[in-house]
Amino acid sequence: MHKNYLEISQVGIEFPTEAEPFRALQNVNLSIQQGEFISLIGHSGCGKSTVLNIIAGLYQATEGGIILEGREVDEPGPDRAVVFQNHALLPWLTVYQNVELAVKCVFKKTKSKAEIREWIEHNLELVHMDHAMHKRPGEISGGMKQRVGIARCLAMQPKVLLMDEPFGALDALTRAHLQDSLMEIQNRLGNTVVMITHDVDEAVLLSDRIVMMTNGPAASIGEVLDINLQRPRDRLSLAEDPAFNAYRQQVLRFLYEKQKNPAAKPKQVESASKSEPKTDKVSAPEAA
Ligand SMILES: Nc1ncnc2c1ncn2[C@@H]1O[C@H](COP(=O)(O)OP(=O)(O)OP(=O)(O)O)[C@@H](O)[C@H]1O
Ligand SMILES: [Mg+2]
Repeated sequence: MHKNYLEISQVGIEFPTEAEPFRALQNVNLSIQQGEFISLIGHSGCGKSTVLNIIAGLYQATEGGIILEGREVDEPGPDRAVVFQNHALLPWLTVYQNVELAVKCVFKKTKSKAEIREWIEHNLELVHMDHAMHKRPGEISGGMKQRVGIARCLAMQPKVLLMDEPFGALDALTRAHLQDSLMEIQNRLGNTVVMITHDVDEAVLLSDRIVMMTNGPAASIGEVLDINLQRPRDRLSLAEDPAFNAYRQQVLRFLYEKQKNPAAKPKQVESASKSEPKTDKVSAPEAA
């Protein structure tokens, strides 16, 4: 177990714009242990995806950088697989072929044809999608597509799994189901995960630590909350657990008292909480 397995060190980024450069992040520092599950939470537009894209090597930091197992990483690589919000499957390939594409990228030289087939099937079994492996994305539901996206990433055996609101587009029941699968898989495989979410319950349920970001520009890490709840975690019993609710309160307090969203008008916040009384989603302003 490496203590500083993945390090986000002094990261800052400026985006060029027509007027003056826009400073999105400043001084972002975080050390992540191997096997840790980290959630990133913060108001819309604060810079969560930017942090994830820098870890993935898709964006170059202006200052500082990312160190994985003692080596700086500044370009994309199969050691850091990304699960996007909208699954990003190729529509003309079957479920099996979508996963195969990624597996061949990584294991073409080290696994035989038979081993590759077995490995693809094994990863589809992990997310309970082996029954639909010969279907195309257009023939399966949104939740199923998201499962395939997760299987594709797991099949690459990345050092770090990066997830940008992986369940954001799903209905509450499917989301709960996938959260449970993800907890079960992570428990079994010990993946190191960095996941962005807008959902406070999801963050507390899944994480070892919740990283709360301040509002931009020049966003940074405001607070880090350790979630010391025993695993395996059960959503039903946690719903009545005082410790679980205390963690939720701490995240909500950070988001709505310490880092009020300047772009959210009070009316919007009110209507958002009326329509979804049971989940605490970070309110999104209409335009960043
Ligand atoms: N390529 C880019 N060029 C210019 N500005 C950018 C670029 N990417 C992001 N930004 C700006 O950086 C800030 C952070 O954006 P980012 O997408 O990381 O936010 P976020 O926290 O992921 O938001 P959301 O929750 O809405 O997804 C925003 O103000 C955004 O407009
Ligand atoms: Mg984002």
